[in-house]
Amino acid sequence: MKNIAVLVSGGGTNLQALIDAQGRGEIPNGKITLVVSSNPNAYALQRAESNSIPTKVIRRKDYSEFSNYDTALTDLLQSKNIDLVVLAGFMTILGKKVIKAFENKIINIHPSLIPSFCGEGFYGLKVHEKALERGVKITGATAHFVDEICDNGPIIIQKAVEIQNGDTPEILQKRVMEQAEWKILPKAVALFCNDKIKVVGNKTEILE
Ligand code: GRF
Repeated sequence: MKNIAVLVSGGGTNLQALIDAQGRGEIPNGKITLVVSSNPNAYALQRAESNSIPTKVIRRKDYSEFSNYDTALTDLLQSKNIDLVVLAGFMTILGKKVIKAFENKIINIHPSLIPSFCGEGFYGLKVHEKALERGVKITGATAHFVDEICDNGPIIIQKAVEIQNGDTPEILQKRVMEQAEWKILPKAVALFCNDKIKVVGNKTEILE
């Protein structure tokens, strides 16, 4: 059984999708044992508490040096014997130390089809604004491993979502979450916990 830490900053709907998938038995070899928030007021913390999942708040601003923040987060995850870290709307950049300590063991969910609309500055509604501005007909979500370059690590699963007439960034964000993010994130986590993801260079192979 793998111990999963979910890192959050906001509403936590992706955390909820993971909790629900776990409840349905869809992550048989993993258990969410820790929720870490960068924001003490994140609603995601309440979701964790109502499901009896231990929580911890770690704020970047409580550390004068970034490297001390990086070490504190790494130490916390290691002290809890975490096997998989899931970034589910986590708004603080991860440091080199934690990324190295959990190489190919950190999964992020990004609300576009990488390599479109990703990289620094592409977060939240901005991603959907840019997709609508460019006039693409299809967008989606990507679950991928995290490396030192933003949105660059090996892709695990992607799912496409159609853009419709009259879409606003808010409407599109909701559709991408419902049709893609909440589906592929639990699937990627289950694959990892079942040892079904082989990383080859900057790509993954999903094992049968
Ligand atoms: C999602 O759109 C996710 O793709 C992005 O941040 C948002 C988090 O939403 N990285 P929630 O907190 O899971 O509701």
